[in-house]
Amino acid sequence: MTRDTAYSKNQAQTYDSDRFADKKGKKIHDVELSILLSAAQEIPKHASVLEIGCGTGRLLRELCARGYQVDGLDASPHMLAECRQKISGEYPDTKLVLAECGNIPFQDNTYDFVYTIRLLNQTESSEYALHSIGEMIRVAKPGSYVLVEFFNFFRPRIPWHPRRNVRLKPREVCARVAQHGATPVWTRGAFFFGMTAVLLAPKFLIGIVAAVDRFASLLLPRLCARCYVLMRK
Ligand SMILES: C[S@@+](CC[C@H](N)C(=O)[O-])C[C@H]1O[C@@H](n2cnc3c(N)ncnc32)[C@H](O)[C@@H]1O
Repeated sequence: MTRDTAYSKNQAQTYDSDRFADKKGKKIHDVELSILLSAAQEIPKHASVLEIGCGTGRLLRELCARGYQVDGLDASPHMLAECRQKISGEYPDTKLVLAECGNIPFQDNTYDFVYTIRLLNQTESSEYALHSIGEMIRVAKPGSYVLVEFFNFFRPRIPWHPRRNVRLKPREVCARVAQHGATPVWTRGAFFFGMTAVLLAPKFLIGIVAAVDRFASLLLPRLCARCYVLMRK
């Protein structure tokens, strides 16, 4: 049932070590986590949370550690196996579900907070990504929050990596959100100079590059490589 956008066994085994183990990867992780945590401020601790495209649980585990009750959904059994291994013992109440983001197997109005990071750009098309946002809103409770992250349409394409290339316009995301009865609360950006700027920076400059990038991203969120829209249902 899994689509070819789901990660393979090999990708699952190297995902954390290839991307987030060194100083640069940790900096990128911190940027993403800080935006996620600022969205999560809107919900009480112990609220029920669902991450769509949770992968190995890199971010899910951070929220569990802060007292949220987090479940995860992913289309890759291999990523879910890594996630299960990472959190096993620590967070036994976490449910991990093998499913597609375009067909979320939960009832309407189930969760207090639903989020997705680093997934929508990897889906099969922009229409599928927008449809998946509708699914996330559907399973969120009335009055609750949904955070979606996506590649910004207004940034240049990466032609040699078409699979990770679905890009959305911030305005079309906000329009779709409204169609599903939710209201955008804020739009933020990250990686104004691109993630590659952090990855290419010499080690001693990483802190400065990240700080300048953060400042530029605050000023011009809609021109950043990645956009985040927080909405309220
Ligand atoms: C780049 S990883 C992101 C994982 C995690 N969110 C993170 O930020 O570390 C993308 C994840 O999306 C999953 N995925 C790809 N297509 C999917 C789909 N259609 N539905 C659900 N998950 C999908 C992949 O299996 C992979 O685990």
